[in-house]
Amino acid sequence: MTEKDFIPQQFSKNIEKGEVTWQSPSNIALVKYWGKKENQIPANPSVSFTLNNCKTTTSLEFQKKSEKTETFDFELYFEGKKKEDFKPKIQQFFERIEKYCPFLKDYYFKIYTENSFPHSSGIASSASGMSALALCVMSLEKELGSNQVDNEDFFYKKASFLARLGSGSACRSLEGELIEWGEHKNIPDSSDLFGIKYPFEIDKVFKTFQDTILLVDKGQKQVSSSVGHNLMHGHPFAKNRFAQAHSNLDKLKEVFASGNLEEFIAIVESEALTLHAMMMSSNPYFILIKPNTLEIINKIWEFREATKIPVCFTLDAGANVHVLYPEAHKAKVLEFIKNELVAYCEKGQYICDVVGKGAEKVVPAQ
Ligand code: PMV
Repeated sequence: MTEKDFIPQQFSKNIEKGEVTWQSPSNIALVKYWGKKENQIPANPSVSFTLNNCKTTTSLEFQKKSEKTETFDFELYFEGKKKEDFKPKIQQFFERIEKYCPFLKDYYFKIYTENSFPHSSGIASSASGMSALALCVMSLEKELGSNQVDNEDFFYKKASFLARLGSGSACRSLEGELIEWGEHKNIPDSSDLFGIKYPFEIDKVFKTFQDTILLVDKGQKQVSSSVGHNLMHGHPFAKNRFAQAHSNLDKLKEVFASGNLEEFIAIVESEALTLHAMMMSSNPYFILIKPNTLEIINKIWEFREATKIPVCFTLDAGANVHVLYPEAHKAKVLEFIKNELVAYCEKGQYICDVVGKGAEKVVPAQ
């Protein structure tokens, strides 16, 4: 598929007003996306677990204008309050997707959004937020009788395609369990344009994998991920890093199929540390992990060595640590987290999550 396939040709219905609500999950990458080309095209393929509990719920209220105008008209409410500082990101999103959703300037929108996880927890809400908004826009497109949205598969592909234009990793936040994004020669139907459900065998251990997110630093990151992605241009290790991501996806095929946790851990932890190594070796260089991030990593390694429980960590673009482990070891790992890791979390806060089934349309109560 190409970008052109996402430009609708005709709409058969006129819709005056309405409202639609979607709830979208966050995701955590196992093979990391870090580095992008023009138009949010990833420099390398990635794969992520869809999470179940960290979610954004977004409602889109729409009212047709008496005449189409030259501007996008919307109000944005976050947790019930008007939020002006989120507006530029949405404005940019609408600008990027207008070509594929030519009806946006026909409507006044009210966007109501809220997260299931605490605000300023250091958990990025851009993936779940952009995915939920993209799904709302797609539901409107469907109501308008777009000639294209005749099947569910296309609906999700285009929603993922739109979400990607809002925030790259958001395109992996629609469907469940394991999502791959980015062209890979050995993954059929993989695309730089949207995420796909991981197409190969997945052992049952991964379907209920646990992710406990330790909130090490709840503050605003000093370097945004868009700045970080851009620093991969001309990065001395970029070429090898991108090749490594391709190769790790190849290796994960056997791992996902067999449930080989030793190999899973080796790949996932290496990916997390490589992501941060790229930050530390870019120009200018920067560090997002904190002393407590390292304390936690060392404690996890000691615990794994002592107990042989297959628990590991991953990191996103921040100091928080995602502790990953099979459901079968939940009680023991949670006890370890409470006894030994919570001390390194800001205000002792952590969030328990698990692999989930993906976004859901919220049907209004009657
Ligand atoms: O979607 P962005 O542009 O915020 O980038 C996210 C990048 C990482 O979270 C660090 C890795 C990933 O693949 O999710």
